[in-house]
Amino acid sequence: MAQTTLFSKSEIDRRVAEMGAEITRDLAGSELIALCVLKGAMFFCSDLMRHIAFDVALDFIQVSSYGDQKTSSGVVTLLKEPQLDMRGKSVLIVEDIIDSGLSMNEVFRYIKLDRGAREVRTATFLDKPTARKVPFKADYVGFSIDPKFVIGYGLDYAEKYRNVPDIQVLGD
Ligand code: IMP
Ligand code: MG
Repeated sequence: MAQTTLFSKSEIDRRVAEMGAEITRDLAGSELIALCVLKGAMFFCSDLMRHIAFDVALDFIQVSSYGDQKTSSGVVTLLKEPQLDMRGKSVLIVEDIIDSGLSMNEVFRYIKLDRGAREVRTATFLDKPTARKVPFKADYVGFSIDPKFVIGYGLDYAEKYRNVPDIQVLGD
């Protein structure tokens, strides 16, 4: 499959540093939990956290929206629930990419309503705003892209390519 580079590792590093600085400015002083959405956001979350200049706790959530390899079905299932008590806390949901918006919509609802977080913010490394099936606007967006299928920097295609250091468009 042909692959073309969309964002190089140095462009990614620069943008993630900017996002961390922005989050530091906005959220310093809050008791913050970074909630990494497994598995794709693992790389982004670990880089982003190191650019947040105040103490931040870390937890993980995993959801699955079943479908074929490149599309989601619309049914979001909780596979792994976070361990930390979120009641009254600020939570920053950290996602790799927002596509239809279904996953983020459900994770947001779960953290706010079922887990009782006081304040929920969202950071996504990539955003495909024209692919939404439900409206969702993240507070922090690394890059907005066209609705093409991308891999690398944690993002996979059938569990492959997560360890590719830059972001590439997966060809046909
Ligand atoms: P959504 O629920 O449709 O917004 O889907 C979000 C999830 O689908 C992301 O967390 C990714 O796991 C996956 N996804 C969506 N687009 C891509 C892509 O271009 N490459 C890799 N994974 C993607
Ligand atoms: Mg994901």
